Amino acid sequence: MKKIVFLLSFLCLAIGVQAKTLIVYYSYTNNVETIVKELSSQIEADVVEIQPAVKGLDYAANNYAIGSEQIAAIRNNPDNAASYPEIDPVDVTLADYDCVIIGAPLWWSNMAAPLQSFLFQTGKEMAGKKIGLIVSSASSGISGVEADAKRLIPEGDFLTPSLWIRSSQTSNAKSMLEDWLKAIDYNNLVSGVETISMEINQGYTVYSMSGVKLLLNVASIDGLEKGMYIINGKKTVIR
Ligand SMILES: Cc1cc2nc3c(=O)[nH]c(=O)nc-3n(C[C@H](O)[C@H](O)[C@H](O)COP(=O)(O)O)c2cc1C
Repeated sequence: MKKIVFLLSFLCLAIGVQAKTLIVYYSYTNNVETIVKELSSQIEADVVEIQPAVKGLDYAANNYAIGSEQIAAIRNNPDNAASYPEIDPVDVTLADYDCVIIGAPLWWSNMAAPLQSFLFQTGKEMAGKKIGLIVSSASSGISGVEADAKRLIPEGDFLTPSLWIRSSQTSNAKSMLEDWLKAIDYNNLVSGVETISMEINQGYTVYSMSGVKLLLNVASIDGLEKGMYIINGKKTVIR
């Protein structure tokens, strides 16, 4: 009986792949915007800016009263969508990204309210993604903003450390970002080599042992007489 020879071939391709990064930010007095502009000159990323739906609000008036009210509403009822200020619709497909870098101003020790609105709407879609956090504040420490990010993106794979840039350090953003990207090992994070195995559905090409071509790219070798052949480049015995 003829022995069926396995002639399925597998081709392994090593392909360099670049993970995709999204930078999402909100900025009222442009410090975070300046930081994000610098960041997007250092890495390849899409950038999305969050905009409050209500325009022209003066968040700094009366000792930051509006911002204070918005943060208090979220603190009092963080699970209720109505606690979050409305934002303009954002046209982004999060599934396209492996890494999300959030640029956040600090308001009353928390993440600025409009950015919290966006993460309240989308944070669950960021499950398993690498999440980087950059926070700008005048002087307050950023642990409250980190806690907001973790609450709003419960399954995020957070990169450590976060980057804290005080307002007065905005002009140093270039070097602070360079150092931070090294600290989180950003380049290794987003570049990688993927190995793909593909089955080649090739036919059979058969030579006699003396080198005479007998069959070219046929689907079956069932008709071959017993004997020794070169099949697809390999010495093959059919019994
Ligand atoms: C409503 C509001 C509340 C703020 N609360 C604080 C605060 O508690 N501590 C602090 O250090 N800075 C506070 N800031 C200052 C901002 O964090 C800081 O100016 C930051 O750089 C703003 O970023 P942006 O310019 O991108 O909006 C507050 C700013 C606003 C508008």
